Amino acid sequence: MIKKYIILLALLPMMAAAQTVKSPNGNVSLTFSLSDKGQPTYEMKYKDKQVVNPSHLGLELARDKHASKGMEETDLMDGFTVKSTQASSFDETWRPVWGETATIRNHYNEMAVNLHQPSSDRDITIRFRVYDYGMGLRYEFPQQQTLNYFVIKEEHTQFAMTADHTAYWIPGDYDTQEYEYNITPLTGIRAVIAKHREAYKSNSSTTVFSNTGVQTSLQLKTKDGLYINIHEAACLNYPTMHLNLDDKNLVFESWLTPDAVGRKGFIQTPFNTPWRTVMVSDDARDMLSCKLTLNLNEPCKIEDTSWIHPTKYCGVWWNMIVGTKSWSYTNDLPSVRLGVTDYAKCKPNGTHGATNEEVKRYIDFAAKNGLQEVLVEGWNEGWEDWFGHQKLDVFDFVTPYPDFDIKMLNDYAHAKGVKLMMHHETSSSALNYERHLEDAFSLMNKYGYDAVKTGYVGDIIPRGEYHYSQLMNNHYQHVIETAAKHHIMVNAHEATRPTGICRTWPNLVGNESARGTEYEAFGGNVAYHTVMLPFTRLQGGPMDYTPGIFETRLSDWSQNPSFVHTTLCGQLSLYLVMYSPLQMAADLPEHYEKYDDAFQFIRDVACDWDDSKYLEAEPAQYITVARKAKGTDNWFVGGKTGEEARTAVVRLDFLDKGRKYDCAIYQDAKGADYEHNPKAYQIIHKTVKKGDVLKINEARGGGFAVSLIAK
Ligand code: NOJ
Ligand code: CA
Repeated sequence: MIKKYIILLALLPMMAAAQTVKSPNGNVSLTFSLSDKGQPTYEMKYKDKQVVNPSHLGLELARDKHASKGMEETDLMDGFTVKSTQASSFDETWRPVWGETATIRNHYNEMAVNLHQPSSDRDITIRFRVYDYGMGLRYEFPQQQTLNYFVIKEEHTQFAMTADHTAYWIPGDYDTQEYEYNITPLTGIRAVIAKHREAYKSNSSTTVFSNTGVQTSLQLKTKDGLYINIHEAACLNYPTMHLNLDDKNLVFESWLTPDAVGRKGFIQTPFNTPWRTVMVSDDARDMLSCKLTLNLNEPCKIEDTSWIHPTKYCGVWWNMIVGTKSWSYTNDLPSVRLGVTDYAKCKPNGTHGATNEEVKRYIDFAAKNGLQEVLVEGWNEGWEDWFGHQKLDVFDFVTPYPDFDIKMLNDYAHAKGVKLMMHHETSSSALNYERHLEDAFSLMNKYGYDAVKTGYVGDIIPRGEYHYSQLMNNHYQHVIETAAKHHIMVNAHEATRPTGICRTWPNLVGNESARGTEYEAFGGNVAYHTVMLPFTRLQGGPMDYTPGIFETRLSDWSQNPSFVHTTLCGQLSLYLVMYSPLQMAADLPEHYEKYDDAFQFIRDVACDWDDSKYLEAEPAQYITVARKAKGTDNWFVGGKTGEEARTAVVRLDFLDKGRKYDCAIYQDAKGADYEHNPKAYQIIHKTVKKGDVLKINEARGGGFAVSLIAK
């Protein structure tokens, strides 16, 4: 099954003229040249349509005392000559530990351009990998006397657009991606950011850097129907890249996240930068099925992966987010000093969520409904002043509150075949978390936890650092690798946006790093939000979106005035549309008990797949996907629409010939609408076969879910 070959096609000396490399099927072509000034330049085409106009590549170095002597004097921007060029091909099929498909093909043609800068006597390589649906490029710095330690002032990788495309974007921010998507022409970005820049500051930690800065993955659509997506892959030991738009010339340029004092990367050669990627197709479905970001990451580095498992879970969580319960144990304390504050002397506040009784209730619910884990937040000392003070020693991650009996609860869960999921809110004190990490993971090993949800709410400590800086990216990576040693899966919230690292480290089973369901309790997410995320945020890896809210009008059961901007069936569709090996049933057990027939879908749905077929897709409008459950002949289909009601057309061509399937369709009932009538649903049972066509109505903000169980 696994096939791999590399052919060295050519070693071409001293080529100054333009050189082109085409993708295996020829649809994508990339041309490299040097400008008159010796600036590396590339352009990209798809089926003879220009995708990226000639764009410069290069790095500006900081005049920094930490660079090796002489390194700071000459930028790596121009004055280059081509020493040699190597062309090769690669074709491999690999098996992800978990994923949307059982196998992934990594098939590309490569061109490595070896450049020399005579004025500094330095060599660098720019490597291009060209796929049928896009390309990746990166800078490589071999170790050499003349290029050893250096500090980056800015990376200047350009993506020159051909026209004023439609952009689906969120503002460039060094700290957060928890935004709703704007849909404007490229020339419309500036006015939107300028208008909201002050308002953006109200989130817990934000740093918007420019009125034309946007984040990746950036989805674009051209007037003649091309879908273009710009992102990065394998961002390791490097700051996260943003894009800043020159909106007169329609040229995006990389804009790296700085450290606390403005430097953008400390490099020691040999070093390769992350890949800068452009995906392209004339079919929006290809944007979702293309695995370019994963393919540009290194193969799995964990030898024994048997302990990594896709997981459905519930949690002591939504009550805290909605405001009906608290993470904290007491209201007696104006502040906490860990190890000094005596919680035994404090009066319980009566709203603490993570009590023995409540956790047992969730464990019982999980056991009864086939959910493997129960997340418990607010189990540990420190939550009374966890946020807002840039407090260094905020949690120790090992001391439970008096009403959370860690041994008893884990024993209780294990006896029922369920595991507890650990929660480590760091409050962004990464320094503190690293100090406690070994003890925290050892405690998890002792009690039998195998997954941790981490969190980085608030401004980073070391103070002045940003969530997406090189130092913080190294921190998240350190946590992932340390967790792997302890056989712990990681789901990191508010961490840097993912770039496909889960291929190399599949214990990174999830990230938040976008606006998740929690915002439905903080005022709401636009109805098209989850029809955008698969095109953008999910390009880098799965999201712990925490779907499954059935009581969508929060004021029906709490003081919270917000409502969830989907129908109940829209929530069910997210288990398919928002691919993740980690799926939460986020609502309260008592709400699921009220709608037990609809909850059946969450009980049934898989979260690991042998195959996935995107049937319909258009950014911000609709996504319909069919997935085959791992190791079975059963399929599940999900469809989600944005603001517009529509009819999905599901052709059951993917079913096995000659076979019958029990089909259950969970769909918006007549009159359903996310604002006015969100819980109107109907469940239709029938028998279907290959070739049948299902036409399913989706309400405004609605969706549907289908299970197809082979007879
Ligand atoms: C923000 C996370 O996204 C949320 O899931 C969590 O409950 C809170 N932080 C508290 O850690
Ligand atoms: Ca969050």
